[in-house]
Amino acid sequence: MKYSLKLTAAIVASCLTSLAFAADATTSMRGADVAAPSHAPAIKDYAGKRPGTETPVARTFSTQPPVIPHAVQNFDEINLEGNQCMDCHSAATYQKKKAPKIGDSHFIDRDGNKHAEATGSRYNCVQCHVPQVDAPPLVDNTFKGDAVKKPVKKN
Ligand code: HEC
Ligand code: HEC
Repeated sequence: MKYSLKLTAAIVASCLTSLAFAADATTSMRGADVAAPSHAPAIKDYAGKRPGTETPVARTFSTQPPVIPHAVQNFDEINLEGNQCMDCHSAATYQKKKAPKIGDSHFIDRDGNKHAEATGSRYNCVQCHVPQVDAPPLVDNTFKGDAVKKPVKKN
């Protein structure tokens, strides 16, 4: 008898807790109910103007792919036929375009062989390098970078 009373009390308590949680429905980060279709993301302008006018953004840890400080909106999509990033950043073009050369690691393939230009695994630049948008952080965080100072090679 005592046991079943305790059990009932526990069940009642747990029901009350779930009710309390249901009443305090938190809003999800995507701003819509789980079952609702996703909102189209807001279209934001990238920060930065045309290449050659921007100051490189300080890196926050030593192996960070530097973020893209200039606008990229008007470039064609990177595909098999073309890669506009390479028009300025490749070993063959960077001096003429006064742009920083692609990272040294970009010339080495996964077997350790050195190539004259970016290897296939580095071809899709925007997989690692991202343009910047002036937007508030989605969640607060306390990350502090170690403010790596890496001078950009300009020629
Ligand atoms: C018209 C030439 C040009 C094109 C095209 C171009 N860039 Fe740049 N990029 C520059 C220049 C010049 C800088 C140096 C900053 C500045 O002066 O704006 C730079 C800076 C950068 C940096 C910062 C490097 C560092 O050490 O902080 C990254 C990363 C970068 N570009 C990636 C890209 C990617 C990815 C693309 C293609 C989506 C691209 N760039 C297309 C000229 C160009
Ligand atoms: C797999 C990730 C990855 C891809 C893909 C990639 N990068 Fe990088 N990039 C990095 C990292 C990490 C660094 C930091 C230095 C290094 O490792 O060489 C870097 C450095 C750079 C730098 C600065 C070089 C320096 O000496 O400081 C430039 C410019 C750059 N990348 C441009 C490009 C361009 C243009 C492409 C496309 C052709 C590209 N990267 C593809 C990860 C990547």
